[in-house]
Amino acid sequence: MALWQESMIRLALSDSVTRFAQRQAWLDGLAGRFVSGPTVESAVERAVDLGGRGITTSVFYLGEYVTDPTKTARAVSQLSSAIHAIASRYLDVCASVDPTQIGLMVDEATCAANARTLARAVLAAAPQPRHGHDALMIDMEDASVTDATLDLHRALRNEGLPVAVTIQSYLHRTRADLDGLLDSGAWVRLVKGALAEGSAVAVRSRADRDSRFRECAAVLLSRSARESGVYPAFATHDHRIINEIITQADAHDWPTGSYEFEMLYGVRSDLQRDLVARGHRVRLYLPFGADWFPYAIRRVGESPRNLRFAATVIGRRAT
Ligand code: FDA
Repeated sequence: MALWQESMIRLALSDSVTRFAQRQAWLDGLAGRFVSGPTVESAVERAVDLGGRGITTSVFYLGEYVTDPTKTARAVSQLSSAIHAIASRYLDVCASVDPTQIGLMVDEATCAANARTLARAVLAAAPQPRHGHDALMIDMEDASVTDATLDLHRALRNEGLPVAVTIQSYLHRTRADLDGLLDSGAWVRLVKGALAEGSAVAVRSRADRDSRFRECAAVLLSRSARESGVYPAFATHDHRIINEIITQADAHDWPTGSYEFEMLYGVRSDLQRDLVARGHRVRLYLPFGADWFPYAIRRVGESPRNLRFAATVIGRRAT
């Protein structure tokens, strides 16, 4: 991971920088680039607009590593409202959640109870949930909570609730974790991994991260994965890897539409449009809420393009 990216991750974790940045109206442009808006309504409006262009969404209420019970309760109620509002517009009922925003920092039981409430909200809004369309997608955070997150996914699935899970290919353990998920025909979102993990738990160089992603993608596109009903979601903006996945999926008889690509709202819109035009399923991670800075600054760290964009916003203030 580049030094610049690690610096942005440190900024994202700083409460004082976040408080300062979120009070600055001149930074609204940065928020607007990556976040649909502060309210449920703004997320739904954006989801409807994207739906009209053939792009599905997974709504996400901003906030991470929360310990304040009031904020945890707010995350659950905001995301539940978004789930109901999205369903009323006949869109995929899909929401993403970070376990640490709904109580994992407090204890696993609180987190599980909140996740269950959200998964039940999905089920109430989509009583016959379609695999690959309607689910509560559980995000994956730092390596200290990987076990708890996988346990949560397994427990809710065993209760018959519509849940999916994110897997980070950069972790050394992931290949083994995938085996368990393949057996159960889960909906699995594959990401490279966005945290600054040490070399004891994850690969660190860009080349290694890319090759691990390719290896995991091949597992998700294997014949046994297809036969067990796995729904793979490849969450990457890397057009070379995306093209390789399409070639591989064709070679292994995965019909177009039996897997999807996921990207972040505001990132590589050109690539999103191109994939939709080629008949592929594209889902965007669509954040909403007032607590936008940690999320947006992580995006700035991920790409020189976004860094240039942030510099333009800051430069406008300076002139
Ligand atoms: P990578 O960083 O390897 O760069 C490849 C190319 O993609 C770049 O050359 C550039 O063109 C383009 N690109 C990448 N990021 C860009 C950006 N922000 N702006 C513009 N261009 C960009 N991580 C995690 O640890 N846990 C999670 O739960 C999730 N969830 C998640 C959901 C979804 C829908 C997505 C898309 C991503 C995540 N991630 C995540 C983040 C993920 O782990 C990873 O850090 C980012 O997707 C960046 O990796 P890429 O493969 O996209 O591009």
